[in-house]
Amino acid sequence: MDCMVLQGGRRLTGEVSISGAKNAALPILASILLGKGTSTLTNVPAVRDVLTMSKVLTHLGASVEARGDRYTITLPGVASCQAPYELVKTMRASVLALGPLLARWGEAIVALPGGCAIGARPINLHLAALEKMGAEIRIEHGNVHACVRGRLKSARINFDIPTVTGTENVMMAASLADGTTVLENAASEPEVSDLASFLIKRGARISGAGTDVITIDGVPELRGADHEIVPDRVETGTYLIAGAITGGEVRVVRCRPDHCDALLAKLQEAGVALKVEKEAIQVRAGGPLRAVDVKTLPYPGFPTDMQAQMMALMALARGSSVITETVFESRFLHVLELQRMGADIRIEGNHSVVTGVERLSGAPVMASDLRASACLILAGLAAEGETRVSRVYHLDRGYERLDAKLAGLGAQVRREAERV
Ligand code: EPU
Repeated sequence: MDCMVLQGGRRLTGEVSISGAKNAALPILASILLGKGTSTLTNVPAVRDVLTMSKVLTHLGASVEARGDRYTITLPGVASCQAPYELVKTMRASVLALGPLLARWGEAIVALPGGCAIGARPINLHLAALEKMGAEIRIEHGNVHACVRGRLKSARINFDIPTVTGTENVMMAASLADGTTVLENAASEPEVSDLASFLIKRGARISGAGTDVITIDGVPELRGADHEIVPDRVETGTYLIAGAITGGEVRVVRCRPDHCDALLAKLQEAGVALKVEKEAIQVRAGGPLRAVDVKTLPYPGFPTDMQAQMMALMALARGSSVITETVFESRFLHVLELQRMGADIRIEGNHSVVTGVERLSGAPVMASDLRASACLILAGLAAEGETRVSRVYHLDRGYERLDAKLAGLGAQVRREAERV
């Protein structure tokens, strides 16, 4: 197991290029199961979750050829309708195989994802929607077993919560269903829109993606298509904060600033100077950082996937900020680790009250999930002395070459095998 060792206190400067979005690449890869033919995807991020999804696809019968960020994938037919527990347990997003397998091949067996460091994360809304579309679903031996005779039928689905992967799963399934399906209170994240764009290139008839009502006219089959994955807005935000927290000057390129509006507004409110271009954002730390309140919400609200990183920044701001998590119930595990670095944070239910301190001090800390790891890396970049972040396998799930990209900006960071 690797850990990341940082010497804090260096101003980051220079340019960093953003990779494709993990959370767009995963559903797009899963959607390959919706039809035969060859698709070529570019800007696919080199992160472990993508490798895991490729393994799931290969297991199910696809041939996946990866050259750098270009994936050529052919599905001659499915060899199995079962996504195995050994792969699913390492990545909850494997549940995205459920809708496509069921809609195209009539059956899906996907291990039920277990608990997660950031909350219970049930998939009841995915299952209820698929049942409404005519699927028979039972949970057996830890697996979701779904089947349908013939095509799924269309339905009007009103999600209790705008679930991202739930919307994606049902949108994929509805692409091949008989009739017109309407998804209300759907997730409107850019990753949902990117999946819809890919499906439309393959012949799907989808309108409204990017809003909370998505209409899908089912078609009998989908073909292969070429697609470039949208840039990762969470990686973008993480490097913006890396620039701001180190008092540096960083230009983040090949990104989509229009997908980062809520974060950009909060950074500006906190006194961070930003220059926004069409596909680049320049961050320059100006005067002292000011505390701002943040509440996570579904898109276009402030993303829960940036909450931990924003907290690292607020730990060094002037004044007190209240950070409220409304999307997941227990996404504050990074707080205890930040406290070990000298941060002044108090948790009250789903609020964290962060009172800025003059400085953080480097310490050995432990990552608990992907974004918590990023938060600790950011804190370590700004802290005095050495910070050792263990369990960085969480980071490798979702950040492409984070250590190399940070080193390119002048950070003193190295990866080490963990001492036991
Ligand atoms: N929920 C239910 N029932 C369901 C589905 C969701 O109660 O059937 C609840 C969840 O427990 C949560 C809320 O609804 O409280 C929203 O969850 P959502 O389903 O939107 O999350 P997700 O689809 O499992 C995706 C991302 C997450 C990101 C969230 C929220 C992917 C592969 N994952 O998860 O990304 O935090 O949306 O934006 O797209 C990450 O990249 O680090 C990450 C965790």
